[in-house]
Amino acid sequence: MATDTASLVLGIETTCDETAAAVVERRSDGSGRILSNIVHSQIEDHAPFGGVVPEIAARAHVDLLDGIVARAMQQAAVNFKNLSGVAAAAGPGLIGGVIVGLTTAKAIALVHNTPLIAVNHLEAHALTPRLTDALAFPYCLFLASGGHTQIVAVLGVGNYVRLGTTVDDAMGEAFDKVAKMLGLPYPGGPQVERAAASGDAERFAFPRPMLGRPDANFSLSGLKTAVRNEASRLSPLEPQDINDLCAGFQAAALESTADRLHVGLRIFRERFGAPHALVAAGGVAANQAIRGALQQVATAAGTQFMIPPPALCTDNGAMIAWAGAERLALGLVDSLEFAPRARWLLDANVTTPAKFANTRAGF
Ligand code: KG4
Ligand code: ZN
Repeated sequence: MATDTASLVLGIETTCDETAAAVVERRSDGSGRILSNIVHSQIEDHAPFGGVVPEIAARAHVDLLDGIVARAMQQAAVNFKNLSGVAAAAGPGLIGGVIVGLTTAKAIALVHNTPLIAVNHLEAHALTPRLTDALAFPYCLFLASGGHTQIVAVLGVGNYVRLGTTVDDAMGEAFDKVAKMLGLPYPGGPQVERAAASGDAERFAFPRPMLGRPDANFSLSGLKTAVRNEASRLSPLEPQDINDLCAGFQAAALESTADRLHVGLRIFRERFGAPHALVAAGGVAANQAIRGALQQVATAAGTQFMIPPPALCTDNGAMIAWAGAERLALGLVDSLEFAPRARWLLDANVTTPAKFANTRAGF
């Protein structure tokens, strides 16, 4: 039964390399307030390996999570007995970490006799703009992170339609791989952006993947290979070569993204009418050049562009707590039997052909 009263929800995020917990209040008018939001990034643990090592991530979550939950509760000045519910990201993600977060949430739910909400991590990204702004459904979400690249019609809580997805690499993954092949440190996205700022985007004629295609899908591996071929042709690379390769790659990724979103917004309008906003989320949305391009796409489509603050774009506990609170308000709670999920499509009605499945294990 729906219970649309004010609620206090603890949220736990452990699907990748952030160990995070937060307490969020959802008022009966649907507005939200973050009471605490503690995020521990494990970047330092994984950087020597050039990417996230699942086993190291899972062990770090075990070591850190209890302390981070305690800090989140303390900073929010909330007692467990005052919680309306406890939410955990139950997938999709690296299974070891998901197990740690979901099991912790189940233990809290059991001990304190409070409802459990098993949240889809992607749904949490999708609902975040409703935490920070009074955004009404429906809206169009562009989600681009290390594991996902999707255009999603957000029609209501639990009601999502994927309009486009990557057929190979995720966008953040492509940034990370380009950085790695050019000898830049992990995570590569910000490094590529920085190098691109001093580079000449015109020097190399890189392909613009999927440009002009009538569907709203993405492809990034051909572009990545083109960068690799150019880099090995020029090897050994001078600093200016690296800057120019980054600038060329980013410009191509950006032009392709703008084109894909242009199509995505057109499909959205045809199927669901005008969206209330184009929203960007995920780590790649931190890229200033991409933000600029998305703003232009939104303006051309006659809709507003919204982007949560950077700390809420990247993985965090507040987005999980908020998605939990939104579900709780509709009476959508889960049993303690809920099983962790390495893969979990946001749009359960869409079946993903194998070739569309993301290449990163666990997503
Ligand atoms: O959402 P996120 O923090 O974690 C998940 O992957 O779920 O996204 C991280 C990804 C990484 O691949 C990182 O390289 C990319 O977002 N990223 C960026 C930028 N900042 C982070 N990509 C391009 N430009 C950036 N400034
Ligand atoms: Zn994420």
